Amino acid sequence: MAAKIFKDLPGGLKMPAIEIGTWQITDEADIETALNTALELGYRHIDTAFAYENEHFIGRVLQEWFSSGKLKREDLFITTKLPLQGVHPDRVEMFIKKSLENLKLDYVDLYLIHFPVGLKYVEGETNPSLVDMQTEPEDHVGVWKKMEEQVDAGRTKTIGLANFNVRQIDRILQSARIKPACLQVELHVYLQQRELVKFCLQNGFVVVAYSPLGCPGYNKSLEEIGAEPKKLPDMLHDETIKKIATKHTKSTAQVMLRYLLQRDLVAIPKSVTPARIKVNIDVFDFSLDAAEVKALDDLEVGEEARVCDFKIIPALLNHPEFPFSK
Ligand SMILES: NC(=O)c1ccc[n+]([C@@H]2O[C@H](COP(=O)([O-])OP(=O)(O)OC[C@H]3O[C@@H](n4cnc5c(N)ncnc54)[C@H](OP(=O)(O)O)[C@@H]3O)[C@@H](O)[C@H]2O)c1
Repeated sequence: MAAKIFKDLPGGLKMPAIEIGTWQITDEADIETALNTALELGYRHIDTAFAYENEHFIGRVLQEWFSSGKLKREDLFITTKLPLQGVHPDRVEMFIKKSLENLKLDYVDLYLIHFPVGLKYVEGETNPSLVDMQTEPEDHVGVWKKMEEQVDAGRTKTIGLANFNVRQIDRILQSARIKPACLQVELHVYLQQRELVKFCLQNGFVVVAYSPLGCPGYNKSLEEIGAEPKKLPDMLHDETIKKIATKHTKSTAQVMLRYLLQRDLVAIPKSVTPARIKVNIDVFDFSLDAAEVKALDDLEVGEEARVCDFKIIPALLNHPEFPFSK
C-alpha cells in the first residue's frame, strides 16, 4: 500500500506527511536539538502553537538555517495555532501577528484555531492559572471570517481547525468563503476517529493526526500543574503492534506512523531524542499489508483512549461547544 510523502493543499501548497511536533518542548536547548536534528534528517514540516511558548526559540533556529543558506523559507511548511484566548473575532489578527513576530516569519503555511472554545483574555496575562480561566460565548463564524482575512493579508497561506467535531466543522463550512484546509485532531491506533476522518476527506481537507504515538509524555503536563497522573494507553508495547514491527524489522512507533500514512493522514510525532526523531521519519521504505492493516484496525478502543481531553481547564467542560464526550 502506498503512502504519500506530501499532501496537496489549496493553492498548490504541499504539506509533508511527517511533521515534527513541539508541544512540551519549552527548553531552548531541547528545541535546538529537536529542530536541528529534524531538519538535518529531512523533516520539512514543523508544528507549534502560541500556547506552547516555544515559537520564539523556533524562530531563532529557523533564522540560523535561513541565514546560513542551508534552507529557504519556501522549503518549509510551518503550522502554528490561535490560542484559546484568541478565539474571538477581535483577537485573531493580534495573535497571528504575535506568532509571526515570535517565529520571525512573514507568513505561516497553516494557521489553526487551536480549540473550539474561547477563553477570556487579559492583556499581559497569557497564561493565567488553569482553574481560574473563564470561557467566551461561541462565535465560530465570526472568528472564521477573521481567519480568512489573515489569508487575504498574506499572514498565512492556509487556515484550518483543531479539535473541532463534525457539527462544528459543518457550521464553518456553511458560511466559509475560504474552506478549512485541514483538521488537526488526536488520532492513533487506539483512537481512529473514522467518522470524523471520512467527513473531512469527503469535504476535501487534510486530516493531521496529533499524539500519533498516544502521547506517552502526557503526565509530565499534569505533574507540572500538580494534577493526578492519568492512565495512558500504552501502544508502544502493544503485543499486536510488536509482532508486526518485528516482522518488518521496525519499531512499534514506526508501525503506528506507517498505519496513519496508509490511511491517507499526516502524522506529527514529537520527540527531543535524536534517535527517535530519526526513526519517526524512516517510515517510507516499508508497507503494511491488508492483514496487518486489519489487525491494527481491530485495536480501536475509541473515546476511552483519548489522552488530550483538555479537561485540565475545568471551565471548558461546562461550555456547550466542548467538542468531546465528557
Ligand atoms: N492541536 C492540538 O490540540 C494538539 C494536542 C497535542 C499535540 N499536538 C501536536 O502533536 C504533536 C505530537 O503529539 P504529542 O506530543 O501529544 O505526542 P506523541 O507524538 O504521540 O508522543 C510524544 C512522546 O513520545 C515519545 N516518543 C517519540 N518518538 C518515540 C519513539 N520513536 N519511540 C518511543 N517514544 C517516542 C516522546 O519522547 P521524547 O520527546 O522524550 O523522545 C514523547 O514523550 C505535539 O508535539 C504537538 O505539536 C497538537
